[in-house]
Amino acid sequence: MDSNIIIPKHIGIIMDGNGRWAKKRMLPRNMGHKKGAEVFQDITRYCNELGLESVTFYAFSTENWKRPVEEVNGIMTLLKEYLVKAFDYEKENNRIVFLGDKSAFTGELLELMLDIEEKTKDRTGMTLNIALNYGARNEIVKATKDIAQLVKDGKMNVEDITEETFSDYLYTKGQPDPDFILRPSGEKRISNFLLWQIAYSEFVYMDVLWPDFTRKDLDEAIIEFNKRNRRFGGV
Ligand code: FPP
Repeated sequence: MDSNIIIPKHIGIIMDGNGRWAKKRMLPRNMGHKKGAEVFQDITRYCNELGLESVTFYAFSTENWKRPVEEVNGIMTLLKEYLVKAFDYEKENNRIVFLGDKSAFTGELLELMLDIEEKTKDRTGMTLNIALNYGARNEIVKATKDIAQLVKDGKMNVEDITEETFSDYLYTKGQPDPDFILRPSGEKRISNFLLWQIAYSEFVYMDVLWPDFTRKDLDEAIIEFNKRNRRFGGV
């Protein structure tokens, strides 16, 4: 990419369009998720090569449980496979963090998630966040309850609740806010993704379906982001 281009610190990606991609080809929806998982692996590696500090993928929302059980099971199976494939977490220098309520997971997948987080927590390379059973309103309510409990127990003063301290009770604690949110597939919704963290983020929408998304599309999104003039409320 052009050396004048500023590489963002943190990109949030809503992987959307897997179902439509499969439908267009008369394939089962899970084939769209399979191709989507391959793209997830490639784009994760590309973000690492570009030198991002963090990338966050929306993989499964708190609402996605409403999908047919075969589809949910298919996504969980892909997760198990691609969590290991995206990076060799035993060896590589990336930190992997799961954003969301883990209490919904059990068995092999939960063990894998806990093992990955524990083994990668002190890594210094790019942080790969995977939002799983994630909903932003749920995250904000959870943070509020945690803070309320501390105040009730006399461990925190009400005056100490600030925007900064509040951020420390979110799943993204310690990470930069996303510079931009990318949503492929033509949809222009935020769908309960990182509501607190996107206060000043740019939005980049693209017409390509996620399973067709390429490194070149990410380059284009970064170029588009570079054209935006971010003032953070100033002039
Ligand atoms: C949205 O497309 C996609 C999902 C709800 C699932 C995303 C899951 C994967 C890419 C596979 C596993 C994930 C990882 C991190 C390995 P959609 O099904 O809503 O598409 P549609 O709007 O076209 O129906």
